[in-house]
Amino acid sequence: MHAPRSPKLVLVTGAAGNVGQTVFHGLKAHCALRAFDLKPTLGADDTHVGDIADRAAVDRAVVGVDTIIHLGGCPRMEADFIRDLLKPNIEGLWHILDAARLAGVKRFIFASSTNVAFGATDLPRLTTDTVHVFNPYGATKAFGENLGRWFHDTYGLEFLAVRIGYFSGLSVDPALCEAWLHRIWLGPKDCVKFFRLAVAAPHFGYGIVYACSRCPENYLDLTTAKALLGYEPEETVPDAP
Ligand SMILES: NC(=O)c1ccc[n+]([C@@H]2O[C@H](COP(=O)([O-])OP(=O)(O)OC[C@H]3O[C@@H](n4cnc5c(N)ncnc54)[C@H](O)[C@@H]3O)[C@@H](O)[C@H]2O)c1
Repeated sequence: MHAPRSPKLVLVTGAAGNVGQTVFHGLKAHCALRAFDLKPTLGADDTHVGDIADRAAVDRAVVGVDTIIHLGGCPRMEADFIRDLLKPNIEGLWHILDAARLAGVKRFIFASSTNVAFGATDLPRLTTDTVHVFNPYGATKAFGENLGRWFHDTYGLEFLAVRIGYFSGLSVDPALCEAWLHRIWLGPKDCVKFFRLAVAAPHFGYGIVYACSRCPENYLDLTTAKALLGYEPEETVPDAP
């Protein structure tokens, strides 16, 4: 059994975004952080502004880093593959993984998505074995999970694919009128808790996990998140507004 980790420096890509701001500010008190984004990250002392598809910018951002939380990229379900996804989610992912292993990064935490599995519309529950992409966006996340596996097998880089459910960070969220979002909701406190555990968890090698709060029907299977990270949700999805 390995001991919990205390990383020296954690790089958060996409730190100026929706999930990124929550994770960045939630982790600030617990570890040294560096931000990387197309735009400056509010409240970050160590902030790199750059494009994930620009290898030189990525090489600079990974210096001295031992853990990466990779949230940067295109998050849209309706995104066009060539126009929106190819550069950030495929080419950019290659650059950050390759730069990471050359810089000696130990752990890579990848923002995957339930869109890797939503195509399995006949299943009452999605497990981490479920791979049935719902759209090209989901296909880029499935690619990321597999590319991460290869980096782990080939270079020993620890890799965690986090299939994030639905995160808005809003206290009153009109989108929650849609029933399907109730089944995959991730609250802000659980989001911070999840990524803190992902950074600090003892060695797990390679893993795929779902990240959501307490949701109806346990649609997303949290067994692996509990086993690898010790994650138990504390928030319950709110009623529709
Ligand atoms: N919010 C959700 O419900 C949800 C669900 C599943 C997965 N995810 C994943 O989590 C991550 C963050 O999602 P979000 O909702 O915070 O999205 P967001 O759009 O709010 O944040 C993404 C951030 O990435 C940055 N970015 C985009 N392209 C970049 C590039 N080429 N180089 C550097 N930075 C770039 C953007 O500037 C932005 O700040 C994404 O990878 C997304 O696919 C989010």
